[in-house]
Amino acid sequence: MKTLVELFHPNLQESTVNRRLAEAANVKENVTVRNLYELYSDFKIDVEEEKRQLLTAERIVLQFPMYWYSSPALVKQWEDAVLEYGWAYGTNGNQLKNKELLIAVTPGAPAENYVHNGPFKYTVHDLLRPFQATSNLIGTRFVKPFVVTGASSIQADTLEQQAAAYAEYLSKEQLELLGDYE
Ligand SMILES: Cc1cc2nc3c(=O)[nH]c(=O)nc-3n(C[C@H](O)[C@H](O)[C@H](O)COP(=O)(O)O)c2cc1C
Repeated sequence: MKTLVELFHPNLQESTVNRRLAEAANVKENVTVRNLYELYSDFKIDVEEEKRQLLTAERIVLQFPMYWYSSPALVKQWEDAVLEYGWAYGTNGNQLKNKELLIAVTPGAPAENYVHNGPFKYTVHDLLRPFQATSNLIGTRFVKPFVVTGASSIQADTLEQQAAAYAEYLSKEQLELLGDYE
């Protein structure tokens, strides 16, 4: 399945986890990784080019480190610019319909923080609901996110396992959808 990884990391040189995940993904056949902060360091998105790229893909991956229980700012800028009325949603806005949308996110904090009776109170899936709601609006199929918790303190062997798991996950023909409240 033709897969486009839109990688958003403000400082990829300093990245440990996202850089390694992206490298592992990039060597897979049918996977293309694009470095959005490199392309748009001025935050001026080339909307037509972005649309062209999205149209080539059957599976669209938004990959980023978790920042403030959400994403780095360019992800939001990208959504605001690219997912236009009449193109991604609204009247005749069905260009992304039935494509898959996959969020790959790396929270720095360990998994035990992201439970309902834990210190952060919300699961990672809870925090990704705005993406799921967006997916509902634009008619993409929101597959189960790929989440690497504990990214700030990850051990080298765990990172290698996660990188291999990510590359394999992206290459699967069939991925399960995330339930509305799962
Ligand atoms: C501005 C900023 C905000 C962050 N917010 C969160 C957060 O809300 N939750 C969390 O678990 N980690 C947070 N982190 C930690 C990053 O998610 C973590 O450093 C990153 O995923 C590691 O991936 P990398 O090696 O690719 O940079 C934050 C880091 C920065 C710089």
